[in-house]
Amino acid sequence: MPRSIIIFFGPPGSGKGTQTNLLAKKIKLPAISMGALLRQEAKAKSKMGRHIKKYMLLGKLVEISLNDKALKKRLAKKDAKHGFLLDGYPRNVDQLKHFLTLLKAKDKIIFVTISLSDRQVMQRLLARGRLDDKPHIIKKRIKDYHSWNDPLQKLAAKTGIDLKINGNRPIDKIQKDIQAKLKPWLND
Ligand code: AP5
Repeated sequence: MPRSIIIFFGPPGSGKGTQTNLLAKKIKLPAISMGALLRQEAKAKSKMGRHIKKYMLLGKLVEISLNDKALKKRLAKKDAKHGFLLDGYPRNVDQLKHFLTLLKAKDKIIFVTISLSDRQVMQRLLARGRLDDKPHIIKKRIKDYHSWNDPLQKLAAKTGIDLKINGNRPIDKIQKDIQAKLKPWLND
Protein backbone atom coordinates (compact mmCIF):
# COMPACT_ATOMS: atom_id res chain seq x y z
CA MET A 1 0.00 0.00 0.00
CA PRO A 2 1.49 3.42 -0.92
CA ARG A 3 2.12 5.73 2.01
CA SER A 4 0.40 9.14 2.06
CA ILE A 5 2.87 11.79 3.13
CA ILE A 6 1.41 15.23 3.74
CA ILE A 7 3.96 17.99 4.22
CA PHE A 8 2.95 21.36 5.67
CA PHE A 9 4.81 24.47 4.59
CA GLY A 10 4.27 28.01 5.80
CA PRO A 11 5.92 30.78 7.78
CA PRO A 12 6.42 30.45 11.53
CA GLY A 13 3.10 30.85 13.30
CA SER A 14 1.02 30.23 10.17
CA GLY A 15 -0.76 27.36 11.91
CA LYS A 16 1.16 24.36 10.57
CA GLY A 17 1.17 22.59 13.94
CA THR A 18 -2.45 23.45 14.72
CA GLN A 19 -3.74 22.25 11.36
CA THR A 20 -1.51 19.17 11.20
CA ASN A 21 -2.79 17.96 14.56
CA LEU A 22 -6.44 18.46 13.59
CA LEU A 23 -5.98 16.70 10.26
CA ALA A 24 -4.05 13.83 11.83
CA LYS A 25 -7.02 13.01 14.07
CA LYS A 26 -9.39 13.09 11.12
CA ILE A 27 -7.38 10.92 8.72
CA LYS A 28 -5.76 8.75 11.41
CA LEU A 29 -2.15 9.27 10.46
CA PRO A 30 0.46 10.55 12.92
CA ALA A 31 1.40 14.25 12.99
CA ILE A 32 5.14 14.68 13.21
CA SER A 33 6.53 18.10 14.10
CA MET A 34 10.25 18.59 13.57
CA GLY A 35 10.21 21.51 16.03
CA ALA A 36 8.58 19.27 18.67
CA LEU A 37 11.04 16.41 18.01
CA LEU A 38 13.94 18.84 18.41
CA ARG A 39 12.45 20.45 21.54
CA GLN A 40 12.17 16.94 22.99
CA GLU A 41 15.86 16.27 22.21
CA ALA A 42 16.79 19.68 23.60
CA LYS A 43 15.35 18.74 27.01
CA ALA A 44 18.06 16.11 27.42
CA LYS A 45 21.03 17.34 29.41
CA SER A 46 23.33 15.85 26.75
CA LYS A 47 25.81 17.74 24.56
CA MET A 48 23.47 17.23 21.61
CA GLY A 49 20.49 18.52 23.63
CA ARG A 50 22.37 21.68 24.61
CA HIS A 51 23.52 22.19 21.03
CA ILE A 52 19.96 21.93 19.66
CA LYS A 53 18.64 24.32 22.31
CA LYS A 54 21.29 26.88 21.43
CA TYR A 55 20.33 26.78 17.75
CA MET A 56 16.62 27.02 18.45
CA LEU A 57 17.10 30.07 20.67
CA LEU A 58 19.03 31.75 17.87
CA GLY A 59 16.18 30.95 15.47
CA LYS A 60 18.69 29.01 13.38
CA LEU A 61 18.14 25.68 11.67
CA VAL A 62 19.61 22.71 13.43
CA GLU A 63 22.04 20.76 11.20
CA ILE A 64 20.55 18.22 8.82
CA SER A 65 22.37 15.32 10.50
CA LEU A 66 20.58 16.02 13.81
CA ASN A 67 17.09 16.48 12.45
CA ASP A 68 17.63 13.46 10.20
CA LYS A 69 18.43 11.32 13.23
CA ALA A 70 15.31 12.52 15.09
CA LEU A 71 13.11 12.02 12.01
CA LYS A 72 14.35 8.51 11.22
CA LYS A 73 13.78 7.45 14.82
CA ARG A 74 10.19 8.75 14.66
CA LEU A 75 9.40 7.29 11.24
CA ALA A 76 10.52 3.85 12.38
CA LYS A 77 7.50 3.70 14.73
CA LYS A 78 4.63 1.44 13.69
CA ASP A 79 2.04 4.22 13.45
CA ALA A 80 3.86 5.82 10.49
CA LYS A 81 3.65 2.65 8.39
CA HIS A 82 0.80 3.87 6.16
CA GLY A 83 1.88 7.48 6.03
CA PHE A 84 2.34 10.58 8.17
CA LEU A 85 1.94 14.34 8.31
CA LEU A 86 5.03 16.51 8.58
CA ASP A 87 5.19 20.00 10.05
CA GLY A 88 8.36 22.07 9.88
CA TYR A 89 10.34 19.66 7.75
CA PRO A 90 11.61 19.91 5.06
CA ARG A 91 12.22 23.65 5.30
CA ASN A 92 14.56 24.32 2.42
CA VAL A 93 15.66 22.76 -0.84
CA ASP A 94 18.54 20.83 0.72
CA GLN A 95 16.23 19.27 3.29
CA LEU A 96 13.60 18.42 0.67
CA LYS A 97 16.20 16.82 -1.61
CA HIS A 98 17.48 14.81 1.33
CA PHE A 99 13.98 13.82 2.41
CA LEU A 100 13.17 12.55 -1.08
CA THR A 101 16.05 10.08 -0.83
CA LEU A 102 14.30 8.50 2.18
CA LEU A 103 11.05 7.83 0.29
CA LYS A 104 9.78 4.81 -1.57
CA ALA A 105 8.80 4.99 -5.24
CA LYS A 106 5.09 4.42 -4.52
CA ASP A 107 4.77 7.06 -1.80
CA LYS A 108 2.18 9.75 -2.47
CA ILE A 109 3.46 13.19 -1.54
CA ILE A 110 1.15 16.11 -0.93
CA PHE A 111 2.38 19.60 -0.04
CA VAL A 112 0.05 21.97 1.81
CA THR A 113 1.28 25.56 2.03
CA ILE A 114 -0.41 27.85 4.55
CA SER A 115 0.13 31.56 3.86
CA LEU A 116 0.15 34.37 6.44
CA SER A 117 1.53 37.92 6.37
CA ASP A 118 4.66 38.80 8.36
CA ARG A 119 2.64 41.18 10.52
CA GLN A 120 0.16 38.48 11.48
CA VAL A 121 2.98 36.02 12.13
CA MET A 122 4.56 38.48 14.55
CA GLN A 123 1.25 39.14 16.34
CA ARG A 124 0.40 35.46 16.74
CA LEU A 125 3.81 34.40 17.97
CA LEU A 126 4.16 37.25 20.45
CA ALA A 127 0.76 36.27 21.84
CA ARG A 128 1.86 32.61 22.13
CA GLY A 129 5.16 33.41 23.90
CA ARG A 130 7.20 30.20 23.44
CA LEU A 131 10.89 30.49 24.43
CA ASP A 132 11.83 31.30 20.81
CA ASP A 133 8.88 33.69 20.35
CA LYS A 134 10.93 36.83 21.06
CA PRO A 135 10.75 39.71 18.51
CA HIS A 136 14.38 39.42 17.33
CA ILE A 137 14.18 35.60 17.00
CA ILE A 138 10.82 35.78 15.20
CA LYS A 139 12.30 38.36 12.77
CA LYS A 140 15.16 35.98 11.97
CA ARG A 141 12.78 33.03 11.49
CA ILE A 142 10.61 35.11 9.13
CA LYS A 143 13.62 36.37 7.15
CA ASP A 144 14.99 32.85 6.72
CA TYR A 145 11.57 31.57 5.74
CA HIS A 146 11.40 34.11 2.88
CA SER A 147 14.89 33.32 1.67
CA TRP A 148 14.17 29.56 1.48
CA ASN A 149 10.57 29.51 0.40
CA ASP A 150 10.64 30.27 -3.36
CA PRO A 151 13.12 27.56 -4.37
CA LEU A 152 11.42 25.14 -1.97
CA GLN A 153 8.01 25.80 -3.54
CA LYS A 154 9.39 25.31 -7.04
CA LEU A 155 10.91 21.96 -6.21
CA ALA A 156 7.80 20.87 -4.30
CA ALA A 157 5.54 21.71 -7.26
CA LYS A 158 7.67 19.42 -9.46
CA THR A 159 7.66 16.67 -6.88
CA GLY A 160 4.11 16.19 -5.62
CA ILE A 161 0.58 17.48 -5.32
CA ASP A 162 0.72 21.14 -4.39
CA LEU A 163 -2.13 22.75 -2.40
CA LYS A 164 -2.33 26.37 -1.23
CA ILE A 165 -4.27 27.51 1.84
CA ASN A 166 -5.09 31.00 3.14
CA GLY A 167 -4.04 30.97 6.80
CA ASN A 168 -5.73 34.23 7.71
CA ARG A 169 -9.05 32.72 8.78
CA PRO A 170 -10.48 30.98 11.86
CA ILE A 171 -8.86 27.62 12.65
CA ASP A 172 -11.95 25.51 11.85
CA LYS A 173 -12.51 27.19 8.46
CA ILE A 174 -8.91 26.55 7.47
CA GLN A 175 -9.19 22.91 8.52
CA LYS A 176 -12.38 22.47 6.47
CA ASP A 177 -10.65 23.95 3.45
CA ILE A 178 -7.63 21.67 3.88
CA GLN A 179 -9.82 18.59 4.15
CA ALA A 180 -11.85 19.61 1.08
CA LYS A 181 -8.73 20.21 -1.01
CA LEU A 182 -7.16 16.94 0.12
CA LYS A 183 -10.27 14.83 -0.45
CA PRO A 184 -9.65 13.93 -4.10
CA TRP A 185 -6.11 12.89 -3.29
CA LEU A 186 -6.72 10.77 -0.23
CA ASN A 187 -9.63 8.62 -1.36
CA ASP A 188 -8.23 6.91 -4.43
P1 AP5 B 1 9.03 25.07 14.84
O1 AP5 B 1 8.57 24.65 16.17
O2 AP5 B 1 8.67 24.25 13.68
O3 AP5 B 1 8.59 26.59 14.65
P2 AP5 B 1 8.06 27.38 13.36
O4 AP5 B 1 8.28 26.79 12.05
O5 AP5 B 1 8.63 28.71 13.57
O6 AP5 B 1 6.55 27.24 13.51
P3 AP5 B 1 5.67 27.47 14.77
O7 AP5 B 1 5.58 26.22 15.60
O8 AP5 B 1 6.09 28.71 15.49
O9 AP5 B 1 4.30 27.81 14.09
P4 AP5 B 1 3.23 26.92 13.31
O10 AP5 B 1 3.17 27.31 11.89
O11 AP5 B 1 3.35 25.47 13.63
O12 AP5 B 1 1.93 27.51 13.98
P5 AP5 B 1 1.12 26.99 15.26
O13 AP5 B 1 0.08 26.02 14.86
O14 AP5 B 1 2.08 26.60 16.32
O15 AP5 B 1 10.62 25.24 14.83
C1 AP5 B 1 11.29 25.87 15.89
C2 AP5 B 1 12.80 25.78 15.71
O16 AP5 B 1 13.21 24.40 15.64
C3 AP5 B 1 13.37 26.40 14.42
O17 AP5 B 1 13.56 27.80 14.55
C4 AP5 B 1 14.70 25.63 14.30
O18 AP5 B 1 15.67 26.10 15.22
C5 AP5 B 1 14.29 24.22 14.73
N1 AP5 B 1 13.81 23.45 13.58
C6 AP5 B 1 12.51 23.13 13.32
N2 AP5 B 1 12.41 22.45 12.16
C7 AP5 B 1 13.69 22.34 11.69
C8 AP5 B 1 14.24 21.76 10.51
N3 AP5 B 1 13.46 21.21 9.59
N4 AP5 B 1 15.58 21.83 10.33
C9 AP5 B 1 16.37 22.40 11.26
N5 AP5 B 1 15.91 22.99 12.38
C10 AP5 B 1 14.57 22.97 12.59
O19 AP5 B 1 0.36 28.35 15.66
C11 AP5 B 1 1.06 29.47 16.16
C12 AP5 B 1 0.14 30.24 17.13
O20 AP5 B 1 -0.97 30.79 16.41
C13 AP5 B 1 -0.48 29.37 18.22
O21 AP5 B 1 -0.56 30.11 19.38
C14 AP5 B 1 -1.86 29.01 17.67
O22 AP5 B 1 -2.78 28.72 18.68
C15 AP5 B 1 -2.21 30.26 16.89
N6 AP5 B 1 -3.03 30.00 15.71
C16 AP5 B 1 -2.91 28.95 14.83
N7 AP5 B 1 -3.80 29.09 13.83
C17 AP5 B 1 -4.50 30.22 14.09
C18 AP5 B 1 -5.57 30.91 13.38
N8 AP5 B 1 -6.09 30.44 12.25
N9 AP5 B 1 -6.02 32.05 13.91
C19 AP5 B 1 -5.50 32.57 15.08
N10 AP5 B 1 -4.50 31.96 15.77
C20 AP5 B 1 -4.00 30.80 15.29
